[in-house]
Amino acid sequence: MPTIDEIEKSGHAAIEAAETTAALRELEHKFLGKSGELTGLMRDMGKLSADERPAFGKAINDAKARLERVLEGKRSVLKAAEQSEQFAAEAIDFSLPGRPPRYGRQHILSMTTQKIKQVFIGMGFEYLESPELEEFKYNFDALNYPPDHPAMDEQDTFYITDSLLLRTQCTSLQGHVFETRKPPLRCFTVGRTFRNEAVDRTHSHTFHQVDAFMVDENVSMATLKGTLAAFTRAMFGDEVRVRFRPDFFPFVEPGVDYAISTPKLFNGRWLELGGAGLIHPNILESYGIDTERYSGWAFGLGVERIPMMAYGVDDLRYFLENDLRFLHQFPS
Ligand code: FA5
Repeated sequence: MPTIDEIEKSGHAAIEAAETTAALRELEHKFLGKSGELTGLMRDMGKLSADERPAFGKAINDAKARLERVLEGKRSVLKAAEQSEQFAAEAIDFSLPGRPPRYGRQHILSMTTQKIKQVFIGMGFEYLESPELEEFKYNFDALNYPPDHPAMDEQDTFYITDSLLLRTQCTSLQGHVFETRKPPLRCFTVGRTFRNEAVDRTHSHTFHQVDAFMVDENVSMATLKGTLAAFTRAMFGDEVRVRFRPDFFPFVEPGVDYAISTPKLFNGRWLELGGAGLIHPNILESYGIDTERYSGWAFGLGVERIPMMAYGVDDLRYFLENDLRFLHQFPS
């Protein structure tokens, strides 16, 4: 059985030799803990006479106190060394170049939509929302599509029920307005449209359209051309020219497709933007609008077309893919 003295000596030596605070914690446990070597000697107390016991207990406690002092001294030395090692390892290098934060910005289609809204509101048009989940009657019937007309096949879409579908064109706004209001009317909407389409560079199942119409006295193709010219000048610059060519849409007569040309874009080539025309009298009359007095024009175009032309984007799928490398190229 080792003596108090022997235990104290070996404790001193072990503490001196310890290299880490973790090793010190183990030694503290080994020599001074509840079941440590010095405390263990207390169990021998029973073997001693009553006279010897106080001196033996005191000797153990004194030895413990000395070891504790040595241990605390060593602990503060090791702790300081360990801390400066840690600080050195975690040091911040202020000379490293900074990482600039990435700023968010609006999607190019949102910026285009906002510009469109500014322009039309500036020309006295009222912005209206119209449902994406639309009734068949507003998407087709109200727009003078005869039943089973092949023009509807060109705009196949996603049906929720036989009479509820995802709208194929924002022209569906017209029926909602004619049902509740009387001319003079100047309205427009911008929103998502859907078609069951074989997706390619210029066609997507989901895209956006702007659709505007005007019903008033003395509205003619000249009014349409003037408004479209003002709109396209605001979107593409002052040198833009507008061209109409005959086209068929059941809801306009005459119907035209219209194109623009500006020296700034594609060397002045004519670029098709959308469809337009004078609102078919059948539609106005079906809503009780006097066609002797009133006439109207309407037009619609794909919103994606505008940045595609303005920035030379050759594939409209980029607009839906949310690749930041693409989206960050547009000035905000
Ligand atoms: C229409 O949707 C008519 N509602 C436009 C109109 C309004 C004509 C008012 C007359 C009076 P169209 O199907 O051509 O027409 O589509 C108009 C534009 O939407 C196209 O010129 C094109 O820019 C865009 N567009 C059509 N289908 C797609 C598609 N699948 N993906 C992307 N853009 C499309």
